[in-house]
Amino acid sequence: MAVHDTKPLAVVTGASTGIGYELAKCCAKNGFDLVVAADERQIEKAAEELRGLGAQVAAVEADLATVDGVEKLLTTVKAQHRPVAALLANAGRGLGRAFLDQEWNDVRRVIDTNVTGTVYLIQKIGRDMRGRGEGRILITGSIAGFMPGTFQAVYNASKAFLDSFSFALRAELKGTGVTVTCLMPGATETDFFERADMMDTKVGTQKKDDPAMVAEKGFAAMMNGTGDVVTGWQNKLQSAIANVLPAGLTAEMHRSMAAPGTAKK
Ligand SMILES: NC(=O)c1ccc[n+]([C@@H]2O[C@H](COP(=O)([O-])OP(=O)(O)OC[C@H]3O[C@@H](n4cnc5c(N)ncnc54)[C@H](OP(=O)(O)O)[C@@H]3O)[C@@H](O)[C@H]2O)c1
Repeated sequence: MAVHDTKPLAVVTGASTGIGYELAKCCAKNGFDLVVAADERQIEKAAEELRGLGAQVAAVEADLATVDGVEKLLTTVKAQHRPVAALLANAGRGLGRAFLDQEWNDVRRVIDTNVTGTVYLIQKIGRDMRGRGEGRILITGSIAGFMPGTFQAVYNASKAFLDSFSFALRAELKGTGVTVTCLMPGATETDFFERADMMDTKVGTQKKDDPAMVAEKGFAAMMNGTGDVVTGWQNKLQSAIANVLPAGLTAEMHRSMAAPGTAKK
């Protein structure tokens, strides 16, 4: 077997842009080969760049909001003939505006991507990891999971699901050799807000965290087997406050960040 075949394998979803691309870079720089996935063709370009960092990279274009899309990714993973050492379940999408004004297909896509596709993938790969008695799982949740997301209601609820799921799975897997880490970023400078139709909101237009910094903290936490990481002191403060305030108050606070027409001039 050639030396490069012995590198551990990491699977990163949503690796075409933003936090996921930076997470994949961290993996490549730290000795992993990669399977990277996203829904659009941009994933091929990302894979090419990641190869430049010395990793073997297989790219999968698949809609991870669907069971078929997740199965397509799993088929590529199987074809690597190596166990998955690290699963970074990061693919996700947002959706701004008032819930009753959103299109149902967009609402459903957020839930299917962030929740259904993510947990399906984690169950499939997690079972193999438990069977082998080793593996690392990183789930990109969010500090949005700590507060009701007025004008981003379904998105925040999907992240509350993931934050909660991540802690529970970690506890279930205690002593098995498999660790689960929840990366909980605050607002981060990526395509996320434009894609969520939030460029007329305060949070969409304010200065945000650097995705490379967020990914580095998340990757380090995953490698250390830490349970969760909130990136940046302002986000730590925001999540600590959200944990003690009544939900009705945090829902009102969220209005000022995410209501249409609150964009920074
Ligand atoms: N930006 C923030 O402020 C922030 C804060 C906290 C948490 N997060 C979370 O961080 C994660 C990454 O977001 P980001 O900020 O880096 O945004 P981003 O740049 O828009 O990246 C999202 C990634 O997910 C992929 N994706 C979305 N839907 C998919 C689907 N159905 N199937 C396959 N891939 C899909 C996208 O690929 P395609 O373009 O091919 O669809 C892209 O690679 C998300 O889970 C998000 O909720 C973001």
